[in-house]
Amino acid sequence: MVMNGRILELATRRKTVRKFDEKEIKIEDVLYCIKAAKEAPSGMNAQPWKFLLVSNPELKREIREICEKGERKFHEKVKGPLRGWLKEKRITWEKRFLEEAPYLLLVFSHKKARYFIQSTWLMIGYFLLALEEKGLATVTYTPPNLDEIRCYLNVPTDYRLEAILPIGHSADEKEKEKRKSLEEIVYLEEWGSKLGEPGKLGKLI
Ligand SMILES: Cc1cc2nc3c(=O)[nH]c(=O)nc-3n(C[C@H](O)[C@H](O)[C@H](O)COP(=O)(O)O)c2cc1C
Repeated sequence: MVMNGRILELATRRKTVRKFDEKEIKIEDVLYCIKAAKEAPSGMNAQPWKFLLVSNPELKREIREICEKGERKFHEKVKGPLRGWLKEKRITWEKRFLEEAPYLLLVFSHKKARYFIQSTWLMIGYFLLALEEKGLATVTYTPPNLDEIRCYLNVPTDYRLEAILPIGHSADEKEKEKRKSLEEIVYLEEWGSKLGEPGKLGKLI
């Protein structure tokens, strides 16, 4: 068996939540998570990220309104497997979590930096694990009308809104979504080989 460690424990426990209780959280905890996240690697060490932390209820309401306007349009025209997936998960145009969570962390990337998208999302991954360590939860929300939100917040055009992370305590009972097994995703030496085959890593998985 692969031995379990702290990172594996946090990663396995972490799940997206879309409902929050309104219990306050400590801003120090959010800053701790940003501190961990900013240690992430980035292309040419450009660290192409900026954060806007919002707790003002009026501003959260405005952000929710703009997002929901974009979501209504998106949900009207969405087709195919994504439509089915959204229905199954009961994800609608309504984004209550944007007001419920005590904080919204808006993550921006600097478009002039090389690999700005890859670097920023890698950093977001660090942030999610740090939240889990602090017993906090989020949903990696990617609104359809990113630019409209950026404009509303007077963020310069050099920046792209990557995600809005509502941060708070979970009030969501949902189960963690299933993950593929190692055997389904890792090949050893030869594309398509099975890890469990004789001579491979059967004992380790
Ligand atoms: C790049 C990215 C975009 C996502 N966008 C949304 C989104 O707009 N709305 C949402 O409810 N969840 C969003 N999610 C959350 C995923 O649906 C969720 O991570 C996935 O279903 C796996 O569930 P888990 O995080 O609980 O393991 C996004 C996640 C990622 C990584």
